[in-house]
Amino acid sequence: MNKDIIFSNQITEYTENETERQMEFMAKAKAYVSDLEKELGRKPVACVITFGCQMNARDSEKLIGILENIGYEISDNEDSDFVIYNTCTVRDNADQRVFGRLGLVSSYKKKKPWMKIALCGCMMQEQVSIEKIKKSYRYVDLIFGTFNLFKFAELLCTMFESDRMIIDIWRDSNKIVEDLPVSRKYSFKSGLNIMFGCNNFCSYCIVPYVRGREKSRRPIDILREAEKLAADGVKEIMLLGQNVNSYGIGLDEEDKITFAQLIEQVCKIDGIERVRFMSSHPKDLSDELIATIRDNPKIARHIHLALQSGSDRILKRMNRHYTKEDFLKLVEKIRKEVPDVAITTDIIVGFPGETKEDVDETIDVVKKAAFENAFTFIYSKRVGTPAASFEDQVPEEEVKENFNRLLEVVQETAHAQSGKFEGSTQRVLVEEVNEHDNSLVTGRMSNNTLVHFPGDASLIGTFVNVHLDECHGFYYTGKMEEN
Ligand code: SAM
Ligand code: SF4
Ligand code: F3S
Repeated sequence: MNKDIIFSNQITEYTENETERQMEFMAKAKAYVSDLEKELGRKPVACVITFGCQMNARDSEKLIGILENIGYEISDNEDSDFVIYNTCTVRDNADQRVFGRLGLVSSYKKKKPWMKIALCGCMMQEQVSIEKIKKSYRYVDLIFGTFNLFKFAELLCTMFESDRMIIDIWRDSNKIVEDLPVSRKYSFKSGLNIMFGCNNFCSYCIVPYVRGREKSRRPIDILREAEKLAADGVKEIMLLGQNVNSYGIGLDEEDKITFAQLIEQVCKIDGIERVRFMSSHPKDLSDELIATIRDNPKIARHIHLALQSGSDRILKRMNRHYTKEDFLKLVEKIRKEVPDVAITTDIIVGFPGETKEDVDETIDVVKKAAFENAFTFIYSKRVGTPAASFEDQVPEEEVKENFNRLLEVVQETAHAQSGKFEGSTQRVLVEEVNEHDNSLVTGRMSNNTLVHFPGDASLIGTFVNVHLDECHGFYYTGKMEEN
């Protein structure tokens, strides 16, 4: 299969009534899907595979919302009529996984000539990935990026009308298109974007390049979406942004409120019983936010606060704008004000120039901060970031040794922290029937810890009180009590 390519590389192209315009494309795409349905004698099936973080998961819900709206049945089987890979490029292994999947799906397409394949998400914002796909994966039908996801319906119409590979990548955008359909994975909990992009430019990180400058949604739009979600049965909301503490950037003066004020307002919505947020940058987590969490029981007792490194020298080279001491003081303040909070973190090992002594500093912070959990990553060189051109990249063997040393301490610390709530009764949101034992259900505590206890599917989506009988490392087992 050798396709021509339609390539557009715009910055911004919106109309005043972009939402209505996209709705018109949805109606048009519906007709194409209906034709395909007649041809196949069954409803066409689409599958969206998501890589990466909660932002991407939320974007996939938007894609699925549109796909359902135009008549596709949704499946998680890639052997379907339309497969969309929503990609991540934060580390190299995320890229490799996508290329692996593309190889596999080509064999399905050979058997089904009508099958379509699309790629979108962060990896598509990188020119090197586009070049590779154009050269080696010519059977891909549609490629778009993170800034023009709102025009998915329009791009689908172009795809149905053409046999060529369609590539539409924007370099940034200054507008947010509201009110397009979304299909939620869970009926009772939902992510909610409060901002897009990132302005922090940590020297190792590709996100600001592939997600663009930070843009906040207006509080009125966020609250309207939260009210709609609540009316739809959602009880737990996770406010999403790369650095929620800097919420407000780019808003008009009359719209400006702090993140702490925003979260308070979301908590006031009838039906919303718990509010989470992700992620916070340690450099600007405010006292106001800590006090708001302390005083408002609806806000989850969980703060994800990425450390990245405990060495002042490395933190400076990472462009993180805090020191080891700043971080530890912040953790101390949070733990003093909100004693039942769980603090989790991200740590990178093997950043250019990192020595054994630097890793010792990180280990020291892990011990002192006593994280409930830590996600540890091996540094991955991302083309285009400042750190990629640093000359003192660390040899693989040394990185592995340091990584293992750190992991051991992370596990010990997390283990020592677990079990704190054994014997207490906690409010739990029931999420699913237990995967391994269907006489049990699995729920989530305010501090994000999982609890397994006897129950059935009728409990899913409800808040119940659970007595925590026993801690098993990262989860508890228990028994439901009277509400
Ligand atoms: N904005 C979030 C923050 O600063 O807390 C982080 C979002 S990023 C998608 C998730 C994590 O990926 C980061 O906290 C960092 O630990 C890790 N990460 C980012 N770039 C990386 C790289 N080049 N190599 C390894 N890990 C990386
Ligand atoms: Fe990446 Fe830093 Fe932005 Fe987080 S804050 S997304 S690590 S640049
Ligand atoms: Fe990956 Fe993009 Fe998220 S690079 S981690 S999916 S913002």
